[in-house]
Amino acid sequence: MNKKITTSALLSVSAMLLGCNNSALLSEPAAKSKVTTGAANISQTKDIVSLQQHFAEHFKIGTALSRAQILKEFPQELVAAKAHFSTFTPENSMKWERIHPEPEVYDFLASDALVAFAQENNQELVGHTLVWHSQTPDWVFENDAGEPLTREQLLARMEQHINKVAGRYKDKIFAWDVVNEAFNEDGTLRESKWLEIIGPDFLAQAFTMAQKAAPNAKLYYNDYNLFKPEKRAGVIKLVNDLKANGVRIDGIGMQGHYALDYPDLSQMEDSIIAFAQTGVEVMITELDISVLPFPEDSEQGADVGLNVELQAKYNPYVNGLPLAVEQQLADRYKQLFTILKQHSDKLSRVTFWGVSDRQTWRNDWPMTGRTDYPLLLDRELKVKSFVTEL
Ligand code: G3I
Repeated sequence: MNKKITTSALLSVSAMLLGCNNSALLSEPAAKSKVTTGAANISQTKDIVSLQQHFAEHFKIGTALSRAQILKEFPQELVAAKAHFSTFTPENSMKWERIHPEPEVYDFLASDALVAFAQENNQELVGHTLVWHSQTPDWVFENDAGEPLTREQLLARMEQHINKVAGRYKDKIFAWDVVNEAFNEDGTLRESKWLEIIGPDFLAQAFTMAQKAAPNAKLYYNDYNLFKPEKRAGVIKLVNDLKANGVRIDGIGMQGHYALDYPDLSQMEDSIIAFAQTGVEVMITELDISVLPFPEDSEQGADVGLNVELQAKYNPYVNGLPLAVEQQLADRYKQLFTILKQHSDKLSRVTFWGVSDRQTWRNDWPMTGRTDYPLLLDRELKVKSFVTEL
């Protein structure tokens, strides 16, 4: 049975621990909040509790933290994060372009702070991410003359980066998303500089290097749209090939960038079952459910390369979320968590991609400046009322 305590009591304790003024915390308007009035207010509840406690008997609950949150620019978000989540992922701070922007330049400010924060609070940290086609500077793939590196040169650069970054936190970080988003929707490997220059074994090479640099960290593959049968098959083949070649992989992260009508949750369930059968851990990572209409001719999922011009018809809830749509969101989350709880024996973690609706990448993808409501905490950092039913 989960022990229920009031949100305000919980926030009082957390605020004291962080040295914040609790009354200010509870009453302060959200720094970036665009919506605090009207129908949106109905979504607030009093009797939850902390998300991590609410779901404790099923799985660990995590969130992504932005650089600004990690560096305490939004102390209320950190208080909420500490209260509600037991595992953290840096939203951007450990991506190559951030942590290693130039050949001889590393920026460990935010990642060191996050590692310290997680350690102080006894929370798990998942590093994100060592090898990705996106957010990786062009210089990584070129020599000083701007010519493409050879396979051996790029492997050496990959190893040097992994040693430096994963090695720095080798006994302090719980797990790494070693490779991120290497597959196309049809289950073939995505065209990328990694594939082009190194070849298809770049994944095995990355996992091998991560294992050497951080032998005690768990090693994961992470991707979106893994509910799709073709993409699922590609990832299962990857896991089996790695294992057959003696390369350790400990888990598959299924990003959950979903919407009210996307995806077919029975396909997601099939993937959880199929991935678990490979013998590795399965996790829902990057969970959020957008309530906004999606441009008809664009591919849903989480391709960060997609950028559509802002149009009012795709941004209908600027002044608050109508009750009927909030009910749809509640129903969708209930359907999703019914399935996740049924398979909690296979799921080690459910991580949301952000703390609250006021700071979620969903407000800016696939077009910037929208008002979305995809998470379980609203813009005032209050738990939405339907969460008691999850
Ligand atoms: O911090 C700068 C700011 O200084 C600048 O003024 C502004 C101008 O555009 O950009 C800000 O950086 C943005 C950053 O998010 C922080 O908001 C970047 O442009 C933007 O590209 C970046 O987007 C991130 C995206 O990955 C690309 O790295 C999102 O925050 C992050 O949520 C998203 O996360 C990815 C996962 O890593 C992998 N799976 C998909 C997921 C969602 O796209």
